[in-house]
Amino acid sequence: MDHFLHPRNVGEIPDADGVGTVGNPICGDMMTIYIKVREGRIADIKFKTFGCGAAIATSSMITEMAKGKTLEEAMKITRDAVAEELGGLPPIKMHCSNLAADALHRAIEDYLKRKGEKK
Ligand code: FES
Repeated sequence: MDHFLHPRNVGEIPDADGVGTVGNPICGDMMTIYIKVREGRIADIKFKTFGCGAAIATSSMITEMAKGKTLEEAMKITRDAVAEELGGLPPIKMHCSNLAADALHRAIEDYLKRKGEKK
């Protein structure tokens, strides 16, 4: 509830190094995660979520979990880990934590892809 009522790291990073957007076609919720990467670590991270309370809470939680981590560590943050960190989610809300983990992983993949293209 705290992460829903007082979400951390809400917003956009206009000059983000990586951006990941995912959506769930069934509930219609959408989530975008922006990352800034410095020396292989997530130096800054923000999110914008159009969705339910659990989607907002999981977005907020995953940004806290990922901040300061190396890209490899952040890639290992699983869907279940986010739900666990929130103290569990009802079964019907588990897909909301999937969105958060998927958006984070997609943002990292986007960063790696951009970096590869620059080389
Ligand atoms: Fe779909 Fe929460 S109901 S993300």
